[in-house]
Amino acid sequence: MTEGYILARENGRNIPKEDRIFGISNRAKAAIAEKGADSVMNGTIGALLDDDGKLVVLESVDEVFHQLQPGDYAEYAPIGGLKPFREAVQKAAFGEHAPEGFIEAVSTPGGTGSLRNVISNYSSPGDRVLTSDWHWAPYNTIAGEIGRSIATFRLFDEDRKFDGASFGEMADQLLQDQDSLVVILNTPAHNPTGYSLTLEDWDQVIAVLTRAAEGGKAIALLVDAAYIDFAGDEDEYRQFLPKLSALPENVITIVAYSLSKTFTLYGARCGAMICVARSQAVADEFKRVCEYSSRGSWSNTARLAQVILSRIYDDPQLLQMVNEERKKYRDMLIARGRAFSEEAAKAGLEIVPFDAGFFVSVPCDDPDALSKKLEEKDVYLVPLKMGIRVSVASLSEDKCRRLPAIIKAAMEELK
Ligand SMILES: Cc1ncc(COP(=O)(O)O)c(C=O)c1O
Repeated sequence: MTEGYILARENGRNIPKEDRIFGISNRAKAAIAEKGADSVMNGTIGALLDDDGKLVVLESVDEVFHQLQPGDYAEYAPIGGLKPFREAVQKAAFGEHAPEGFIEAVSTPGGTGSLRNVISNYSSPGDRVLTSDWHWAPYNTIAGEIGRSIATFRLFDEDRKFDGASFGEMADQLLQDQDSLVVILNTPAHNPTGYSLTLEDWDQVIAVLTRAAEGGKAIALLVDAAYIDFAGDEDEYRQFLPKLSALPENVITIVAYSLSKTFTLYGARCGAMICVARSQAVADEFKRVCEYSSRGSWSNTARLAQVILSRIYDDPQLLQMVNEERKKYRDMLIARGRAFSEEAAKAGLEIVPFDAGFFVSVPCDDPDALSKKLEEKDVYLVPLKMGIRVSVASLSEDKCRRLPAIIKAAMEELK
């Protein structure tokens, strides 16, 4: 047992004394309190803030919340979610682009709950779950908590294109060692890079998984769609969905959908896991095993946001208001990302291929040293394994324009 535990069991995990992001974010808050918000750049936050640093909350959604009656939130919801929610969330996730297949939705506490349930039900203890080298760090925590770990493929090749070959090699390798495989792809507007898989990238993914499935082993493809409505036009960014119908019978796709960002309901902890299966039997099994896992982890999910989403999808006018309001903020976010990438090009600062979304990543050799150097300049960013992550979601367009030159200067100073 590693030093540092008193009564708790380590159980193979590496639990840091302080969450790194919260540590940096606390120092950023202290700097803002001392020097004022204009003098400090806090690019650590994973939520959309307006130009004054206040959390964006969609007013149209907030209004529905204020109309709720006690029964709407005080009562338990069924384990897999309210029926109207299960229907509404499919429309929210798929829009006009529902894949063909057998579809079931199970409510979860945010996208995080979907990730947990997919890993627990579609992999075995000790298995490795495949995702890209650039990835959201909590994937490791979620997998580790239930005795699995993360293996990675290279997201980009030398030409800065999606590395389908590396994806294929890793999928084959893992399937040699284990009886099943869970793959996590976070797209569009990937955290932490902002990359969105193109339709051609998707063709590669489908080809790799179709070939890997030939051995007959079970494969679960989890599409982490946490940022699907912040990449750009809702229709354009859902065009990949029908491609999922081409996967063979022993591959199940599960879309992890979250209301946190899309409906600015982060704290209401609501999302859904939605399966696209090739047979009714596989879809029924999905519902059964995922509801069972829910019962044994968080039990039922909070009713409140399920009722909110159901009301929104029951009222076309309200839905239109929500979509229009979200578009206004999405345009603000897209303008920030564009400002950052334009200025990065001007400053000669390399960034990881970026399309849209909450985050941009800057590759570097020593992310911890760069982040420390930047703190000296009142810039707070998150160091990752292969670079640093900038949350354009939490910085004004003006700050996004100024930041690349500051990062470039800090890198030069470290040389
Ligand atoms: C890549 C990614 N996936 C999933 C989530 C899940 O968020 P939530 O559990 O709030 O829906 C997040 C949240 O930051 C994320 O960045």
